[in-house]
Amino acid sequence: MSADNGASQAKVLRVETMNPRIRVMEYAVRGAIPIRAEELAAELKASPGSRPFSKVTPCNIGNPQQLGQKPLTFLRQVSALMEYSDLLSPALLEQTRKLFPEDAIARAQRNLSHVNGAVGAYTQSLGIHEIREDVARFIEQRDGFPADPNSICLTNGASGAVERVLDILVSSPDVGVMIPIPQYPLYTASLAHLDAKAVPYYLQEESDWQLSVADLERALGEARAGGVDVRALVVINPGNPTGGCLEEANIEEVVRFCERERLVLLADEVYQTNIYTETNPFVSFKKVVSRLKSPVELFSFHSISKGMVGECGRRGGYYEAVNIDSQVMAQLLKLASVSLCPNVQGQMAVGVMVNPPQPGDASYEQYQRELGDIYQSMRRRAKKLALAFNSLPNMSCNDAQGAMYLFPKIELPQAFIDEAQSLGQQPDGLYCMRMLEATGISVVPGSGFGQAPGTFHFRSTFLPSEELFDEFIAGFRSFHLDFVARYAASQQ
Ligand SMILES: Cc1ncc(COP(=O)(O)O)c(C=O)c1O
Repeated sequence: MSADNGASQAKVLRVETMNPRIRVMEYAVRGAIPIRAEELAAELKASPGSRPFSKVTPCNIGNPQQLGQKPLTFLRQVSALMEYSDLLSPALLEQTRKLFPEDAIARAQRNLSHVNGAVGAYTQSLGIHEIREDVARFIEQRDGFPADPNSICLTNGASGAVERVLDILVSSPDVGVMIPIPQYPLYTASLAHLDAKAVPYYLQEESDWQLSVADLERALGEARAGGVDVRALVVINPGNPTGGCLEEANIEEVVRFCERERLVLLADEVYQTNIYTETNPFVSFKKVVSRLKSPVELFSFHSISKGMVGECGRRGGYYEAVNIDSQVMAQLLKLASVSLCPNVQGQMAVGVMVNPPQPGDASYEQYQRELGDIYQSMRRRAKKLALAFNSLPNMSCNDAQGAMYLFPKIELPQAFIDEAQSLGQQPDGLYCMRMLEATGISVVPGSGFGQAPGTFHFRSTFLPSEELFDEFIAGFRSFHLDFVARYAASQQ
């Protein structure tokens, strides 16, 4: 071997030799702006006062606890007891009863009994059977139609579920999956990874981001005419990044469209409890498929990351498969078994989300109060931020009917668009980068989600805590007013 240990030789694994499908993947929610935001946060830590703002505000991602949202006490009590199960031993149980409510102790004991007392052991590949039974009961109570625990698969977050389902759907590079624009970039990234085609359809900004079946037909027709084997349709309801909630009649039209066009339906319903509108309450695709007795093949997704639970880091989620061929179900089981099992605490947290304390249980009132406080606060913040955006020049924004985001439209001056293009940047990307450098607020440019051609947006969560919300809005407002004034002056 040469003296430099072969260091002068090119590495075997280089960007040019790596999997090209990963090279082309993009995921703006953690893209250039959040990366710069992390650098700024490190800089502020090392030298406080070095920037015109005192902290970085990460509004780029729906990660509520990062911005101070308190976890639900019952969920944490159960997971603490499971994690250190000695607290449930006869020697310590009396002490434990002084610190933990009876129902948290009972739930931890019940959960531990499902895994033979071992939270550190692999579980069944689809997830713990009893938790899947709880999920099935939750779906039955929500929809009024039966659900089968064997059609439910617990996963590491909804992301793991979506990736698994796309993996089984994509059989060749000709396969296409219809995705909404704007969309949550998990879909474009996963399709790029699988070398499949994203077939975009457009949500209607002027009608609160509703879904137009005419546009589905247009998108499908164009893709099929171009030789794409379109197999599935993704709907995100409530929408990310749009915050739109679909009307039940619209959901029915989508189900009928998928039946007619022989498409598998993927319903991403992770924001199903983040609903702030009275007019469009959440209705699941499963309910509509069941009510219509539709043969449509459906996968629906849910997660502990969103709602009021907000336990993103615990990575818990599931999919429910409806009307899926039994041999494909066996293949899905095989696929799940290759990665052994989803993480156990994530599974247990799914169990708490779908089977919370009931009336009469020691924790019922506290659980409901915590849930209600988080919900009301999110609702207030959603409204307040939309009002603030709509009060500004060159900016308009639909109210969030659901989810955790606003997706305002910005009118960018031509001089600024030219400037961005001369720098080789997306105009909305440059706008967001300038916002970050001026205010410390990190948001995601609309180009990261897709947007109607010629329009510009950004996505901001409304998750900064209420105590800090006015300061957050003031920082943004002063940046935007400066921006508008500067380019107005340069155009005179
Ligand atoms: C629409 C949508 N689907 C899926 C996910 C993934 O969630 P999880 O944390 O459960 O993987 C997110 C996360 O933001 C999302 O917004």
